[in-house]
Amino acid sequence: MVHWTDAEREAINTFWAKIDHEEVGHQALTRVLVVYPWTQRYFSTFGNLSNATAIAGNPKVRAHGKRVLDALGDAITHLDNVSATYAKLSQLHSEKLHVDPENFRLLGETLIIVLAGQFGAAFTPAIHATWQKFLAVVIAALSKQYH
Ligand code: HEM
Repeated sequence: MVHWTDAEREAINTFWAKIDHEEVGHQALTRVLVVYPWTQRYFSTFGNLSNATAIAGNPKVRAHGKRVLDALGDAITHLDNVSATYAKLSQLHSEKLHVDPENFRLLGETLIIVLAGQFGAAFTPAIHATWQKFLAVVIAALSKQYH
């Protein structure tokens, strides 16, 4: 089981409370789709993803970004039980959506970049490290049902 110190729990929860799910989710997902364009193939039902402007203005990308961030909230409220919390979601991404789990890492990376951009110096190295750990736990949990 992952061990979280009080300082880590505090760093995750304090920052989480400041995050606008729709905006941050939208920006992180937009960056994944622009910076790693092969990820677009999973979203063939989303309409126009033909360039960075189209992706950023696509309402389905915005809605889905919020959905992903809302799901991260489930992990935050179950920090000691992320694997079980994400068991069904992992199964969905593996068996139904066939998302290569490497892509979870890419989304984690763009999320960190968006948080750094939004919060600047307040996103201190210590808070960055804690978020990196949190996302590693999320990625491991989402990757768990892959065989
Ligand atoms: C759907 C969460 C990463 C591709 C979903 C849903 C959630 C979610 C909550 C909706 C599930 C449902 O319909 O019940 C997450 C989280 C991620 C993550 C928490 C990582 C932190 C990714 C990545 C990709 C991806 C990296 C692909 C590059 C998809 C697709 C759908 C989906 C294609 C279905 C979209 C639709 O047709 O509406 N995800 N996801 N996900 N996810 Fe993820």
